[in-house]
Amino acid sequence: MSAAQRLPEFPVDGCAVVIGGSGGIGRAVAVQLAERGCCVAFSYFKGHARAEETASLVRTAGQEVHIGRVDLREEAEVLRFVDEAAEHFGGVHTTVYAAGPYIPMRFISQQSASAFREVMEHDAFGCFHLAQAALPHLRKSKGSFTALVTPAIRRYAVRDILSAAPKAAIEAVVKGLAAEEGRFGVRANAVGVGVITDGLYHALVENGDFDQRFLDASREVMALKRLGTAEEVAEAVAFLASSRARWITGQTLMVDGGYAL
Ligand SMILES: NC(=O)c1ccc[n+]([C@@H]2O[C@H](COP(=O)([O-])OP(=O)(O)OC[C@H]3O[C@@H](n4cnc5c(N)ncnc54)[C@H](OP(=O)(O)O)[C@@H]3O)[C@@H](O)[C@H]2O)c1
Repeated sequence: MSAAQRLPEFPVDGCAVVIGGSGGIGRAVAVQLAERGCCVAFSYFKGHARAEETASLVRTAGQEVHIGRVDLREEAEVLRFVDEAAEHFGGVHTTVYAAGPYIPMRFISQQSASAFREVMEHDAFGCFHLAQAALPHLRKSKGSFTALVTPAIRRYAVRDILSAAPKAAIEAVVKGLAAEEGRFGVRANAVGVGVITDGLYHALVENGDFDQRFLDASREVMALKRLGTAEEVAEAVAFLASSRARWITGQTLMVDGGYAL
């Protein structure tokens, strides 16, 4: 296909929905999608001020923005937000799951069942709620669903069960969507986020879950010997969501500096 014949990366009509736009990676995704011409509807949970900052960055990128508070554990809230976004912008062509709770890092022997249950409710159920809410709109637009997961589902990192378990479930949902919804033109992919210096990183360092020893060991095991950034993750999300990836579905792209090799 010549440059002149190339499809636009995203449709002109409708919007991209980003769940977790108040977060480090969700913000970078919202801004990159806006820079590629998408109107953006994004959600926040407790971080209203951070959501306003993201909204301002999307507007600076020249796009219209719609924001709403969503608790992913509540199926009806997720449905309402996605339907509102579709109504506001005349459809949804892109859905990105970029949310997730804080995850205290402990050995399995030291984690409580209630912490495990809670993270599954926020993260695995949250992503499932989003997939179900977005599907009718994505079928109409032949759109895409992209979810953030972790390389720990391929190469387990000790003390990371609260990330690896829900993300393994999310990857299964993504593969299921790809297999079942491809006949409607819907694509679904995942991005495995390695250790980056944005988003959750700050709280993990502050709480001592990421100490210097952990960070040095992480760097050492990565082929590229450095931590990543939210922008580098967002590049991969934007690619997979765009028409450039129109024949890619059901894949998990590790954006992890070569951690999971
Ligand atoms: N950063 C990393 O190194 C890394 C590595 C691997 C995987 N990931 C995954 O990537 C995703 C984004 O991470 P991040 O670093 O950007 O984290 P972050 O900065 O802490 O952002 C998390 C986002 O999720 C939202 N959220 C949390 N619980 C929610 C709930 N119950 N309902 C609705 N929204 C909720 C937060 O909303 P509020 O802030 O408004 O409350 C925020 O927008 C997460 O799934 C995380 O597990 C991150």
